[in-house]
Amino acid sequence: MNILLLGSGGREHALAWKIAQSTDLNHLYIAPGNPGTASVGTNIPVATDDFPTLKKVVLEYAIDMVVVGPEDPLVKGVVDYFRNDEDLREIPVIGPDKTGAQLEGSKDFSKKFMLRHHVPTAKYMSVTGKNLQAGIEFLKTMQAPYVLKADGLAAGKGVLILNDLDETISELKNMLDGKFGAASKTVVIEEFLSGIECSVFVITDGKHYQILPEAKDYKRIGEGDKGLNTGGMGAVSPVPFADDVFMQKVEDRIIKPTVAGLYSEGIIYKGFIFFGLIKVGNEPYVIEYNARMGDPETEVVMLRLKTDLVDLLKGVAAGNLDEKSVEFDERAAVTVMLVSGGYPEVYEKGKVISGLDKIQGSVIFHAGTAIKDGNLVTSGGRVMAISSYGKTKEEALAQSFKNANLVEFEKKYFRSDIGFDLKTKS
Ligand code: AMP
Ligand code: GLY
Repeated sequence: MNILLLGSGGREHALAWKIAQSTDLNHLYIAPGNPGTASVGTNIPVATDDFPTLKKVVLEYAIDMVVVGPEDPLVKGVVDYFRNDEDLREIPVIGPDKTGAQLEGSKDFSKKFMLRHHVPTAKYMSVTGKNLQAGIEFLKTMQAPYVLKADGLAAGKGVLILNDLDETISELKNMLDGKFGAASKTVVIEEFLSGIECSVFVITDGKHYQILPEAKDYKRIGEGDKGLNTGGMGAVSPVPFADDVFMQKVEDRIIKPTVAGLYSEGIIYKGFIFFGLIKVGNEPYVIEYNARMGDPETEVVMLRLKTDLVDLLKGVAAGNLDEKSVEFDERAAVTVMLVSGGYPEVYEKGKVISGLDKIQGSVIFHAGTAIKDGNLVTSGGRVMAISSYGKTKEEALAQSFKNANLVEFEKKYFRSDIGFDLKTKS
């Protein structure tokens, strides 16, 4: 098969790395890709939302399947574009259509969906300019901390968690006035849930699903989980607290009603569903859905997925995912993200990266890198993920930290406490 993968981050390099191992693969193309994906396939410089040019690429390179990495082209309707084009209709695209992608693209949509299908989630109210007063009254009935979420995509920045009621009311007004642009014209006010978070992933053909290895990511920039939120500073799989009892609850109360709910509403969802969960006491709640894999979770999930990913994706396309099975690697997998100093605020780009030749025993996934004047340089906040296996999480982490120290670029930063809060089961 010829496969076209859309995206350019660490998640896409990890997906490309896994797809490239498939016996079903003839050639892998990545649009636009990064210097890392170029080592396992051919990069094509086309933006993920330039659908007409992607069409040309698909026809020119005889692509048999398109795999979508990030949410943006899904929310913009790449699946619908293919479905509605007579030259592209037969080519499967892995990812939900525009309606299904609303699980991620609209918090209001996803909360209403969860309510309809009895999926456990925080109490909420959606507010627009029209019912602001009711929103304020709702806030007054709640206890601090207060959670405000922009309804639409806001590059991971649209969630505010505040302790002071007056400040919350004023931020609610700011959001409705366009603090996050059109994304916050509607704001979801949510009850605060206190617990420990983890990410659970499934792949679905719209009717059947298979559960992939779970992971925990580390969102804050600072050690001890302090400071600003980032795209993710590292990840660990398996997650010790996501034991069999917990995962059974997740499957029964969350995964099954979600997949069945999509099906019953006529939403053709063929792709990944990312359940952002929080364990409150011993019970799982959904914090958010994403319509794609997580980043940097994919950089550990792909290590722990023994099954041929392309075979699973073929099951998604054919609608016979129930006939497939998923095998997990028994080892632990971790990833440590190297980032540009200053990230997630202001940082410099174009720093020369060296030391990759010294790396042994880890898999490097490029995120924000580029080639400039023949050198590999930084081109983003998150630069590369250093993923390792280990008999235990501690062994894997030791390997990633050792290699994180060997890669060099000016103002490199990484969190050296990834995974420290999770005890390995004895
Ligand atoms: P979201 O974009 O919805 O995933 O929210 C970003 C982060 O905010 C989550 O990963 C949580 O750490 C936190 N968060 C969101 N909603 C809640 C909630 N209802 N209670 C507690 N924390 C939350
Ligand atoms: N790591 C969280 C995300 O991909 O949204």
